[in-house]
Amino acid sequence: MKILIVGSGGREHAIAWKVAQSPKAEKIYCAPGNAGIAEYAECVDIGAMEFDRLAAFAKEQKIDLTVVGMDDPLVGGIVDVFEAEGLRVFGPRKNAAILEGSKAFSKDLMKKYGIPTAAYENFDDPARALQYLEHAKFPIVLKADGLALGKGVLICNTLEEAQEGVRSIMMDKKFGSAGNQMVIEEFMTGREVSVLSFVDGKTIRIMTSAQDHKRALDGDQGLNTGGMGTFSPSPFYTEEVDAFCREHIYQKTVDAMAAEGREFKGIIFFGLMLTEDGPKVLEYNARFGDPEAQVVLPRMNNDIVDVFEACVDGTLDQVELEFQDNAAVCVVLASQGYPVKYEKGFEIRGLEHFKGKDGYYVFHAGSKFQDGKIVTNGGRVLGVTALGEDLKKARANAYEAVKWVDFDNKYCRGDIGKAIDEA
Ligand code: AMP
Ligand code: GLY
Repeated sequence: MKILIVGSGGREHAIAWKVAQSPKAEKIYCAPGNAGIAEYAECVDIGAMEFDRLAAFAKEQKIDLTVVGMDDPLVGGIVDVFEAEGLRVFGPRKNAAILEGSKAFSKDLMKKYGIPTAAYENFDDPARALQYLEHAKFPIVLKADGLALGKGVLICNTLEEAQEGVRSIMMDKKFGSAGNQMVIEEFMTGREVSVLSFVDGKTIRIMTSAQDHKRALDGDQGLNTGGMGTFSPSPFYTEEVDAFCREHIYQKTVDAMAAEGREFKGIIFFGLMLTEDGPKVLEYNARFGDPEAQVVLPRMNNDIVDVFEACVDGTLDQVELEFQDNAAVCVVLASQGYPVKYEKGFEIRGLEHFKGKDGYYVFHAGSKFQDGKIVTNGGRVLGVTALGEDLKKARANAYEAVKWVDFDNKYCRGDIGKAIDEA
């Protein structure tokens, strides 16, 4: 088969690496890709939002399956464009990707179908939102409705902060049109867990759990980022939690989408909070997490192409997922200054140390070729993943491997997976 992957980050590198292991994959392309992905795929210089050019490329090259890694093209309707051209594609259509694309939609869906989540109200009028805050309990959480690179969520401790937040989201449009609507919701406390799943419209198959570290600095300080590191599995995702989520969250979400005429095919990423009152949904995403994919996929035994095809064909009920009984930790190596301002173009040294080392992976998030070298090309540059027989060993291995690579302005958190010690 010829397979096209759409995206250019560490997640797409992990997907390309996993697809490359499938005996079915004869030729892999990635648009636009990066210098790490180029090891497994031919990178094609077409942007992820250029749907018509991508579809034309897929037709020309007779691509058998396209896998969309990123949220923006999914929410923008890339799957509909490909399907209209008769192309096979893995991912939700636009009317289903709204599960991630609109927080107001996903909150209303959860309320309507009794899926546990924080209490909330939706607003499209800033005056009404400001009025509502007068009688609210603090801290309180404000969320821009649309996609905002993980930055559209504000946790406000006081009325003044929340008023300022409403103004910046809805009036100053800090996150653009993502702030045309807003969700105001109850603040919850508890451990966060990410659970990814494959869905074929009817059947859902749950992958192993993971946990991200969203803040830029050690001790969960600093600004929110796309994710500074992950571990899998989460020791807090117990059998009891799993049983609860299977009964009250996972299948219910798939059935709710189908009942709304928005059949969901692809990946549903459940962002969960384990509260005192039980697990609740913080958010849905309609694609693999980044860097969750970098710890989940190295632990998966299945041929991922089989699973993608089962989702597209609606035969996922015939597939059982299988994960290794081990653990993985991914430490993101970023450019100093990320997520605000950072320099790019520095040579990345030491990548060769990963060659032939089982259980160690370096997934590129932001890299490119320049003058025969591989240089930094983003805020998040690399995701160094290591396996281990348990979480502690995986963490020690990952931090050992972090030393193998270097570039100017490299920085990473030193406490990825520290929560493991409390388990
Ligand atoms: P989201 O994009 O909805 O996952 O929100 C980003 C982050 O904000 C989450 O990972 C949580 O750490 C935090 N967050 C979101 N909603 C809430 C909430 N209702 N209570 C407490 N923290 C929240
Ligand atoms: N790591 C969080 C996300 O991919 O949304």
